[in-house]
Amino acid sequence: TYVVTENCIKCKYTDCVDVCPVDCFREGPNFLVIDPDECIDCTLCVAECPAEAIFAEDDVPADQQHCTALNAELAALWKPIIERKDPPADADEWNGKPGKLPLLER
Ligand code: SF4
Ligand code: F3S
Repeated sequence: TYVVTENCIKCKYTDCVDVCPVDCFREGPNFLVIDPDECIDCTLCVAECPAEAIFAEDDVPADQQHCTALNAELAALWKPIIERKDPPADADEWNGKPGKLPLLER
């Protein structure tokens, strides 16, 4: 499966959603996750993310390993998002900021 990592938090550009052939993104208030039971490993979303937040499970950076379980946990709670929407107005200001995990809204 593919995994959305912390840099999506408060960026939430949603470009990833438009290319996913199986609609496996799930939407929270300020973060998206991938449903690991639905992702078919097509790789298309990786290049679309302006925040470079998406990785193959085997390539998730060491400091983001917790995100694999987080995607599975939140995918079970959140609803599908199937169309791109406008990102938050301050998305670019948050892109690349470290330590965003405490800001995740559920
Ligand atoms: Fe969707 Fe493909 Fe990305 Fe998996 S790798 S989330 S199937 S776009
Ligand atoms: Fe998040 Fe990147 Fe998609 S910031 S919403 S994973 S395009």
